[in-house]
Amino acid sequence: MGLHRLTSITLAVPDVDASTGFFTDFGLRRSEHHPGRLATRDGGEQIELVEGPRRALPRLGVGAEGADDLAHIADRAARSAMAEVVEVSDACVSVRDAATGLLVEVTVAPPYISPESAHTFNRPGTTPERIDVPAESVLATDPVQPSNLTHVVYGTPDQPATLAFFTDVLGFEISDQIPGIIAFTRCGEVHHNVAIQAAPVAFPHHIAFEVDDIDDVVRGGQHMVDIDPERHMWGVGRHAIGSNWYWYLRDPSGTFVEYTSDIDRITAQDLYQPKEWDGHEFLYSFGPPPPPEFVEPADLADLIAGG
Ligand SMILES: [Fe+2]
Repeated sequence: MGLHRLTSITLAVPDVDASTGFFTDFGLRRSEHHPGRLATRDGGEQIELVEGPRRALPRLGVGAEGADDLAHIADRAARSAMAEVVEVSDACVSVRDAATGLLVEVTVAPPYISPESAHTFNRPGTTPERIDVPAESVLATDPVQPSNLTHVVYGTPDQPATLAFFTDVLGFEISDQIPGIIAFTRCGEVHHNVAIQAAPVAFPHHIAFEVDDIDDVVRGGQHMVDIDPERHMWGVGRHAIGSNWYWYLRDPSGTFVEYTSDIDRITAQDLYQPKEWDGHEFLYSFGPPPPPEFVEPADLADLIAGG
């Protein structure tokens, strides 16, 4: 039993229609029944867009394997100064991070079930997976379909307190961290589901969607910048922490949105040996250097003024 994945998030954006257009171009599907909600291929409705004066992350959903997990979280939250218990029922435990006001809703959720990828890869010294035909992604004409919402990087003005909320109250584990700057935490086997970074104000730095492989990272990112080159933020590259491929785009609200693939999996904390990360080397292993805006978003002063 335990937590195992993100379920959904609510994002506040100034222009819901503009952000909805961005996310549908990105490969998410509009909900037929709930305006403002968008679905991934394997995770259902995972994004809810609501109108707000500036971008924000008011709610994060986390999936648990069983009802016992909800009871344990409710118990820990009731005894913690880091959390405010909002609601406890058989179906959902809602707790608020006291440092930021972020509402986390924990529900019992099924695991992702993903179709087997049709992509084949040839590499030296192994039997070719594909012969006499071009690569599937070269021939593909359909848009990339993101599998799932895999992580959120959340800025908080009290990084130690928000980190303690996620670890001590919710039960996330720290995969890697630069103490006091950023902690990469996970609730399942994926290397990070929520990264908690020190910031002058609470805000969503970026959200990431897992796609099948590097082909889909590049094909998806290229499709987005073909529609609007201003959407490009950073990529293509491979992160050092977590090892994942990335291409970051900019949503009209200012939140960065990432296609990602091939992130590390950790099955047990004592089997994983984090590296001592130094300075900014943790940001990426190879690829173009990050633009300054990735580290300090252009609207940060506005977020602070509104925060
Ligand atoms: Fe990311």
